[in-house]
Amino acid sequence: MLEKLNYFKHPFAVVESSRIGRGTRIWAFTHVMEGARVGENCNLCDHVFVESNVVVGDRVTVKNGVALWDGVVLEDLVFVGPFAVFTNDKNPRAAVRKNRREFLPTRVCQGASIGANATLICGITIGRHAFVGAGAVVTKDVDDFAIVVGNPARRVGYMCLCGSKLRNSLRCRCGQVYEKDGQGRLRVAEGAAVPIAA
Ligand SMILES: CC(C)(COP(=O)(O)OP(=O)(O)OC[C@H]1O[C@@H](n2cnc3c(N)ncnc32)[C@H](O)[C@@H]1OP(=O)(O)O)[C@@H](O)C(=O)NCCC(=O)NCCS
Ligand SMILES: [Zn+2]
Repeated sequence: MLEKLNYFKHPFAVVESSRIGRGTRIWAFTHVMEGARVGENCNLCDHVFVESNVVVGDRVTVKNGVALWDGVVLEDLVFVGPFAVFTNDKNPRAAVRKNRREFLPTRVCQGASIGANATLICGITIGRHAFVGAGAVVTKDVDDFAIVVGNPARRVGYMCLCGSKLRNSLRCRCGQVYEKDGQGRLRVAEGAAVPIAA
């Protein structure tokens, strides 16, 4: 008898992993390899590839045409725009065979967004709720809430949980309040309400 899935799988998707969370939707021509972990209520749009040693949290959206290679971790509530590019080998050569341990990881922390067609060079961490602009080439870690654009990507400001750019103050027009920690890093102000899932 066919096992009833607690997630949605388009008939043209190839899902070899048994570790897919409840309520997740996997659309046409997406391939999830055996061993990959995908959390609950995610949306993997058309033409997404998820390699075996990949971890995807809950409520993550991956738009069309994105490949997640071994060593990529997407924490909860991450958004990956269409055709964003991940890497896991910093200096590939067709003639040089590497084993898996030599690949470099990439972590995208909770709530961060990656713009369309951005490229992430492996070995970096994108901070919580950070925002990578469309087409950026990210070569270094990105701070929490930072907006980075360009090639190489540089910080041009900070973005609120709600998706608005923070203008020269620590209070967004949505009411969310921020503060700087001892190292000058932005964080939600202690005791402040968080209106958006964080
Ligand atoms: C980064 C981003 C959030 C900035 O938005 P914004 O604050 O409204 O920025 P503005 O449009 O006011 O542009 C401000 C400046 O940054 C530049 N800029 C904006 N986005 C840029 C990008 N991705 N890369 C390089 N420069 C960018 C603009 O040209 C402008 O430059 P100027 O001051 O010299 O004129 C936005 O442009 C972006 O890249 N969003 C991602 C969209 C996306 O990929 N969505 C995926 C789902 S469809
Ligand atoms: Zn806001």
